[in-house]
Amino acid sequence: MLVVGTNTPFPPFEYVANGTVTGFDIDAINAIAIKAGYDGITVNDMPFDSLILALQEGQIDVIASGMTITPARQQQVDFTLPYWEADQTILVRKGGGFNPQDMTDLAGKTIGVQTGTTGAYLAEEDNASLGPIKDHDTFLYAVLDLVNGRVDAVLVDSPVAPAFTSQYPVVASATIRTGEQYGFAVRKGNTVLLNALNSALRKFKGSPDWDVLLTKYFNDQQSMNQNQQGLDPLQYVPYLLTGFYYTALLTAGGLLLGCGIGISLAFAETCLPKAIRDLSAAVDQVLRGIPLIVMFFLLYFSLPQVGITLAPGLAAAIGLGLRSGGYQSQIFRSTIESIGTEQTEAALSIGMNTFEAYRHVLLPQALRLSIPAWSNEFTIVLKDTSLAYALGVTELLKEAANIVALTLQPLGVYLIVAAIYFVASTGINRTMNMLYVRWKIPGLGGGT
Ligand code: ARG
Repeated sequence: MLVVGTNTPFPPFEYVANGTVTGFDIDAINAIAIKAGYDGITVNDMPFDSLILALQEGQIDVIASGMTITPARQQQVDFTLPYWEADQTILVRKGGGFNPQDMTDLAGKTIGVQTGTTGAYLAEEDNASLGPIKDHDTFLYAVLDLVNGRVDAVLVDSPVAPAFTSQYPVVASATIRTGEQYGFAVRKGNTVLLNALNSALRKFKGSPDWDVLLTKYFNDQQSMNQNQQGLDPLQYVPYLLTGFYYTALLTAGGLLLGCGIGISLAFAETCLPKAIRDLSAAVDQVLRGIPLIVMFFLLYFSLPQVGITLAPGLAAAIGLGLRSGGYQSQIFRSTIESIGTEQTEAALSIGMNTFEAYRHVLLPQALRLSIPAWSNEFTIVLKDTSLAYALGVTELLKEAANIVALTLQPLGVYLIVAAIYFVASTGINRTMNMLYVRWKIPGLGGGT
């Protein structure tokens, strides 16, 4: 399997339809990979400005993302032969009366761009005369900001402009000639893969299959209009539920790992000698002190430098688990401390060792007392899974963004998403509360 990194939506090169990433780039790199002897591809949809790093760190093998071959990027990665040409198009609101013909007409205007793209670089070069430049994670958000009047114009690659103008109330007012060429990118020095891709690309471009792809994505109006499913957000609930499946997996993984770490740290912090106690207190300070997104980047982008490469979902689950472990340790520690030392002393006096006293006397009571605070931690982990989007995990929120791209119905889609999170968190919180009541220990405090 060739692992492909891309960034949607960039139609018709890459976009999500029927829950899967598709598009010209995806079909092309798949055909090329097969010609080059691979048995297929797996696609990782990630932020555009993370692609090069992910490639360098070995998280992906090739970038297929309408990426322009630029001298700066050539320092960092190796590009295949060019396969497409592009310029930059200025998009403006339809009927807005603003009709810029070149960059000078954009003087003083707010420009929307996608972070790390050639459009963003073009705007930055002209920074002196332009108004504020607003960076967006994807072109979709730039276009939505344009539709909603938050920016005056968007700079987007000319080959994708028609897909946006046909779907959204925006028009192309001019195209600025930049003479860009797209290439697929591989890790610098990976000449084996580069040569294999290049010779497969050469063959592919000369074959009828290439024309089939061109027709499929550029001539055929039917498939150009990616949204064959209609605009009703409710139709997309099954996709949202698939996204929620990954959200649930991340939540479960993060909480379980966090529980293991939390219980161990709490044991160390309450029952073990001072030196170990201090050490584990320091560990949980660190776990709680690092922003989750930084933890994700450390695990996903930095570990490969020491030879450990984690899949995005695994990196996200571990990140959630580490941070939650820090918090859970504090939940367990405070409940253990509330149980009082007499119980430990009693346990030790009947011949248990420290670990047994913890395991059989303190922990069972502490776990029950921890339920209310722990429900809270559950809700936090559940909601924070959405950050896994930054690593390319298609969890609920990312799936929602894909659907907004298709339907242009952010209100309906995000309301459904909010409802799904709400039902999940209330459902679990209620269950936890039931367990709390059922497991009530007579005579021990902690509510009804
Ligand atoms: N061609 C431009 C660049 O290389 C934009 C590419 C954006 N691609 C994407 N899949 N969002 O910077």
